[in-house]
Amino acid sequence: MQQLAISGGPQAVTAGSIKNWPPIDDTDRKSVLAVLEQKSLAYGPNNEAFQSEFAAWNGNQHAIFTNSGTAALHMAVVACGIGAGDHVLVTAYSWSSSATCIIHHNAIPVFVDIDFDTINIDVDKIEKAITPKTKAIIVVHLHGLAVNMEKVMAIARKHNLKVIEDACQAHGALFKGSKVGTFGDCAAFSFNQNKCLCTGEGGMFVSNTEETRQLAAQLWSFGETRTPAESRDYHAYALGWMYRSNELTAALGRSQLAKMDSYFKIQRENGAHLNKLIRGIKGLILPTEPAGHTHNWYNYTSRIDMHAIGWTGEPQKMREAIMKALQAEGVPVGVWQNFILPAMTVFRAKNAYGGGCPWSCHLAKGVEVNYNPAEFPVAQRHTDTHFGMTVPLRAPNRTDVVDQVADAFHKVFGQIDKIKVD
Ligand SMILES: Cc1ncc(COP(=O)(O)O)c(C=O)c1O
Repeated sequence: MQQLAISGGPQAVTAGSIKNWPPIDDTDRKSVLAVLEQKSLAYGPNNEAFQSEFAAWNGNQHAIFTNSGTAALHMAVVACGIGAGDHVLVTAYSWSSSATCIIHHNAIPVFVDIDFDTINIDVDKIEKAITPKTKAIIVVHLHGLAVNMEKVMAIARKHNLKVIEDACQAHGALFKGSKVGTFGDCAAFSFNQNKCLCTGEGGMFVSNTEETRQLAAQLWSFGETRTPAESRDYHAYALGWMYRSNELTAALGRSQLAKMDSYFKIQRENGAHLNKLIRGIKGLILPTEPAGHTHNWYNYTSRIDMHAIGWTGEPQKMREAIMKALQAEGVPVGVWQNFILPAMTVFRAKNAYGGGCPWSCHLAKGVEVNYNPAEFPVAQRHTDTHFGMTVPLRAPNRTDVVDQVADAFHKVFGQIDKIKVD
């Protein structure tokens, strides 16, 4: 086997062979440049068209284009009628705003540990976490793998809970043939730089009822009841934010959306190819795709089996050393999260708005929520041993790039004994 690149050997991945995300072509350029000729760059016809095109693509009745996925999550919380003192169940491992969106509207997150195989909320632990104040469940289709929505919806129906899907990473992912974002009461997508539909920054709220759409729209634009395309009365009927986006971003979103299905196909082919090439590598726990789930391979996340490679020290140190070796081979791997959510200060300090609010609000009294990271051992084990990769599986990269990435994995894991741990 060739010498590791980190020790001076040749790189497994030829420099420059991994192309950037997202692919930008003349249709994108023309769409964005055309906006510069419009009368207004603010919310307008491209925003409205993007909303209806995205709703049609995903299979929703309504969509509202936002300036971030986090904004769309906050809108979903409000659209589900969640407010001061309510409890919302959410996975212990995700992006911070999968849970801070709950605090944004004075409600209180209650965490549920993850299932190690899927990295998603452990659906078998949801019922035990329900309190008398629980109003909703936020499920996160993490890294592009759908949560088992059959189980989640059955629990929600049984306990009369709302369901919000954080589909920020899961564009196109399917559960039993249906797209994520079509199961719960509302869902949020993100279009930030890393996402499978990229507009630089941006997001989309989706739902299937007029009531949820109206509540979300009010929060989205200053608490008003009319969009900027309508004749506004500039009256704040409720507490509102400014979560709208603009025409340039919407135009890029539309032209990228037109290519989403071809991107998805390429990601699926690349993911399947990589699975085939690196399955069975000692010490590497590959991502799973259970029957009935169609992954979008947003983030190809592996875990290191420390026991299998004979490492008994701190897992993070070995993980760091392996990642450095892969990076030296030219593979852009990284740690996605260093902390599980219940370990983050914003929750543990229980003081988001000062004076202990919202946890100290009189409406929150009766059922105390405390955050003890030790109660989420599975999420912690995942966090300490994982590393992920996004761009090599995205268009325009194809299986020839995946071949090189797979070579790098074999080279590094085949010479684990030569890797120096600091
Ligand atoms: C799972 C998840 N939820 C929410 C978000 C927030 O999206 P945004 O960055 O568009 O606000 C992200 C991405 O950052 C995410 O990965």
